[in-house]
Amino acid sequence: MVTAYDFTMARLLDEGGADILLVGDSLGMVVQGHPTTLPVTVDEICYHGRAVARGARRAHVVGDMPFMSFQVSAEKALENAGKLMKEGSFESVKLEGGVDIAEHVFRIVAAGIPVMGHVGLTPQSVHAMGGFKVQGKGEDAAERVLRDAQALEEAGAYAIVLEAIPPDLAATITAQVSVPTIGIGAGAACDGQVLVCYDLLGMFRELSPKFAKRFAEIGDQIVEATAAYVAEVQEREFPGPEHAFKPNGDGQSIRTH
Ligand code: KIV
Repeated sequence: MVTAYDFTMARLLDEGGADILLVGDSLGMVVQGHPTTLPVTVDEICYHGRAVARGARRAHVVGDMPFMSFQVSAEKALENAGKLMKEGSFESVKLEGGVDIAEHVFRIVAAGIPVMGHVGLTPQSVHAMGGFKVQGKGEDAAERVLRDAQALEEAGAYAIVLEAIPPDLAATITAQVSVPTIGIGAGAACDGQVLVCYDLLGMFRELSPKFAKRFAEIGDQIVEATAAYVAEVQEREFPGPEHAFKPNGDGQSIRTH
């Protein structure tokens, strides 16, 4: 699973073999430049969802339910999950939380909307957690994360994201729940893995989580390509004759394919 926020990236990630594209509320940080995910709205998730759905040919597309779109009540959660499906073109929704929102998950699933859970470090609770910190350390904390995952399974979640927890705990949860776990900073025992696409591609330079392996350095390539473009424009090397239209060529298409 990889996050995606627009058509072009979704097309490329899908072609690369990602099975699930998540329109994560991480867009608040990597697309909008906020310090947390809290300002993201349902309408913004829907806007990006429509673009990603047009780009996905094969991958399943999941929409993140943003902060305060599902916490208030099961009714509000169901209403907003429905909005994501109708207006965001999603095939399922993802919610952060465990025992406390299990009833909300149950109601959404009962309405025919598949739900992915998310436990451990839940970034929407960043202030309650005292920062973006590893969760489930120590026996009591580990027990709480396990109970959260089990509550989601019982409520009908079809998969559960495990974020920033010790690998042993992730392995225990993966063994104890019957639905697939998807890890991020949770070790290799999870059934699947998820990364923010800008981390995977080496494009987000403001923050570099320990768990986020950069499989490419596209950020450097973007900077280099832009510098080359600027230099060629300044030297009048670009555009060259091959980029110009013929003076008598009526009806020439500007497209190359
Ligand atoms: O918002 C997001 O991108 C996420 C993933 C990191 C799991 O929730």
